[in-house]
Amino acid sequence: MNSYQALREGLARRLPDGLTLLSGGRYVPRNHDVDYVFRQKSDFLYLTGVEEPDCLLLLDPVRRRQTLFLPRIDNHHRVWLGHVPDAREARGLYGFSRVMYTDQLPQALRQARGGYRKAYADEAAYKAAGAALRLPNRPAALRDALDELRACKTPAEVERIQRASLVSGQAHRRLMAAARAGLREYQIQAIFEAHCLDAGLKHLAYPSIVAAGANAAVLHYQANNAELKDGELLLVDAGAEDKGYAADITRTFPVNGRFSRRQRDVYSIVLETQKRCIDAARAGVSSVDLHILSMTIIAEGLKSLGLLQGETEGLVENGAVRLFYPHGLTHMLGLDVHDVAGGKKRVIPNPFKIALRFVAKLEPGFVITMEPGIYFIAALLKDPKLRRKHRGSVNFAKAETFLDFGGVRIEDDILVRPHGPPLDLTDVPKEIADVEAACRRG
Ligand code: GLY
Ligand code: MN
Ligand code: MN
Repeated sequence: MNSYQALREGLARRLPDGLTLLSGGRYVPRNHDVDYVFRQKSDFLYLTGVEEPDCLLLLDPVRRRQTLFLPRIDNHHRVWLGHVPDAREARGLYGFSRVMYTDQLPQALRQARGGYRKAYADEAAYKAAGAALRLPNRPAALRDALDELRACKTPAEVERIQRASLVSGQAHRRLMAAARAGLREYQIQAIFEAHCLDAGLKHLAYPSIVAAGANAAVLHYQANNAELKDGELLLVDAGAEDKGYAADITRTFPVNGRFSRRQRDVYSIVLETQKRCIDAARAGVSSVDLHILSMTIIAEGLKSLGLLQGETEGLVENGAVRLFYPHGLTHMLGLDVHDVAGGKKRVIPNPFKIALRFVAKLEPGFVITMEPGIYFIAALLKDPKLRRKHRGSVNFAKAETFLDFGGVRIEDDILVRPHGPPLDLTDVPKEIADVEAACRRG
C-alpha cells in the first residue's frame, strides 16, 4: 500500500457511512488562451499525489473501493499540452486499483450510491456529480475530517517539508551572501526563486516577501521593487514547496552585513523570543500559551528599550505589545503554508480573544512555524485611538523615532516530537555572528 492509499483509508474510516467525492483542481483562465499556472488542490494532492488537473476521487467505504477519475484527453489537448496518463498508466503511476474517466462518473455513482444515506462531497465535486449522486451532502463534515487528518504529518510528509526547507534554506544563504546596497528587492527575490527552481522545486509556497528598510513593517509586503540601502535591514520571508509541501522561512539581516547597535537590540529580542518559544514547543503545550509566552518576552524586551512601560502582564493583556507584534507566533505548515488547524475537536479555549488561526495543543507530528517579530508600523503607532488607549504603556515619542526601521521577523519550521523539544527543520544562520558571517560570503 502506498502512503497516499493509507491516507485515503484514513479518511474512509472517518467517514464510514457515506460516499466521499472529492474534486481536483481545474485550470483557471487568466485571459484568452492563457491559464494561471496550475497547482493541484491541497486536499486532492494529500489523498492522491496526482498533480494533473480535472480529476476526481470517489471513496466507497462499504465496498472498500477507491476510484480515481481522469479527464479523457483528446488530440487537441495532446497537441497543446502534451501527454496525460491514461487509465492504465495511472493505475501503476498512482497506485489505484480502479481508474476511470470523468465521463463515467454518473455510471460509477449510480452503482455506488446504493445503501448510503449521505454523501461527503466538496462543492465542485457535488456539482460535477449532478443528479447521479442524489444523496444529502455533508461538506462541513468532510472539511472537518480532512482538517483532522491532515494535522499530524506522516514521516513521508515530513520528508517533503524537510526537502522544501532544505532547498529554501540554501536559497536564503545565497541571497544573504549576495545582498548589498544598490540592488533591488526583486533581484534578491530572483536569487531565491532561481535557486529553488534550479533544485527542481517549481512552485513557491507563497509569494516571496523581500522587504528592505521600512517596507519590512508591511507584514505581507508584495511590491518587492525598492532599492536596498546601506544601513537598512532586509527582511526576506520566502519558501518553496516540494510536491505541495511548504517551507516558510524568514530571515532579517543588515544590507551592509553589520548590525548597527539599534538593529542588534531589536533583533536580539526577537531571536531570544524565538529560541525560548521553540524550546517550549513540546507535545501537550497550547499554541495560545506559546503565543502569550512570545508576547511576554517581547514586552519585556521592549520595556528594556524604553518603548513600553508598566507591568509586563498588563502590557500583554491590554494589547500594548501588539502594536509592535500584531500577528500570531505560529501556524501549522503542510500542503498549505497556513495549513489546516486540526479540526473542531482540537480547538481549545482561547482566553485572550486574539484572533489566532491555530488554537490547539501541540501533538507529535505537527509541523508548525515559530515566527515572532517586532515592527514599527505607522498605521498602528500613529492611530489616534490606539495612542489614546495605550498612552500610559507606550512611549510613542520614542517609537516614532523607529518609523524608518521597518521590522524584524525570524521564522523557522519545526516538527513537534513525542518527547522533549522539537526538531528544527530550518538550517539558516540566525545568531548575530552567524548572520554577519553569512552576509560576508558574497
Ligand atoms: N509567509 C507567511 C507567513 O509567514 O505566515
Ligand atoms: Mn509563517
Ligand atoms: Mn513566512
